Amino acid sequence: MIKLNFNTEVDKTKTQEILTEIAQDAMGGWMSLPKKVDMGEFARIKEAAKKINEDSECLVCIGIGGSYLGHRAIIEALRPKSETRIIYAGNSLSRRELEYALSEVGDCDFSINVISKSGTTLEPAIAFKAFKEKLIVKYGEEEAYSRIYATTDANVGTLHDEAVANGYARFVVPDNIGGRYSVLTAVGLLPLAVAGVDVEKLLEGASDAVDNVVDVATEYAWMRFTLGQKGYDTEIFASFEPSTLYFNEWLKQLFGESEGKDKQGVFPASVVYSTDLHSLGQFMQDGRRNLWETIIDYPTDEMNEKVVRAVKVAHASGGIPVLEISVESFDEKGFGELIYFFELACAISAKLFGVNPFDQPGVEAYKSELKKLI
Ligand code: PA5
Repeated sequence: MIKLNFNTEVDKTKTQEILTEIAQDAMGGWMSLPKKVDMGEFARIKEAAKKINEDSECLVCIGIGGSYLGHRAIIEALRPKSETRIIYAGNSLSRRELEYALSEVGDCDFSINVISKSGTTLEPAIAFKAFKEKLIVKYGEEEAYSRIYATTDANVGTLHDEAVANGYARFVVPDNIGGRYSVLTAVGLLPLAVAGVDVEKLLEGASDAVDNVVDVATEYAWMRFTLGQKGYDTEIFASFEPSTLYFNEWLKQLFGESEGKDKQGVFPASVVYSTDLHSLGQFMQDGRRNLWETIIDYPTDEMNEKVVRAVKVAHASGGIPVLEISVESFDEKGFGELIYFFELACAISAKLFGVNPFDQPGVEAYKSELKKLI
């Protein structure tokens, strides 16, 4: 169960309208996803993960944004044990990073999971080309193609067409689920299963959340909106577990891309304590008061728990609102629940700000400038 240390006034009628709108939205498929898992696709994911574990020392996961952050967040947080190491690529345009990822694979037996809903994104396309060439050199074309797993649209896109033409194993990003809401689809489930995460438990946590978190997600969304209206324009997600750094990254993408449009929204940032108490802690305590802190309180050890308590008192005395979201367990179930909670809260919050939670028109601006240059 997720618990909040605050409550706020909620307009129940408005909330109900919003929930209905989200459920009926063409991109609202994630809302019922944990209760409607496609068992055929799920079985194929498990089978593919088993094969990859058997024949690959490394799985290169190629993707960016919503096609990458969710599964990395869970893998980094839970540090599951697996014979197959996950190597990430295609999440920047840096040649140095690409060369580093290629050298990390080295002579390992490897497979590729290329993940792109549109199938046209530049960063993963470039990395995929490089790793595909390496795969063909190592195994020859036929075996190389049997080691490529493409997660993309069911019917269209460059990646889809190539996957069909070359016979890659294909997994689907459903039409009604956007990138940043897709971690519980094949986008996340295949890399997670390969990495040794208990994906059944993750889905169980998310499914429980469908029944349990509507009220708390609503309260948190209204609290964000209320603070935003009062001029608090920055939310700092704070955790006290270093391995959750990438979960914070996932949160920043979820909220930033869903809410930051039409000159609206709250800017999402993050810290990991106690490390960042020795860097950003000064600003949190005493800097410009345009921000609030949302502590994600994972079950932790006694010493760390004391820091949580100390930070709450100190930062509140410094004049910033301190919200706390407590998670019951630091495992697959806990993260399944947390993912659904934040997705729902984010969609409600974006709607309260009057923007569409499911598009990202602003992302196109840099792409068209880049196209002119290349
Ligand atoms: O949330 C989103 O929709 C984006 O962050 C996308 O996931 C990201 O841009 C990658 O897109 P694609 O999966 O089409 O390569």
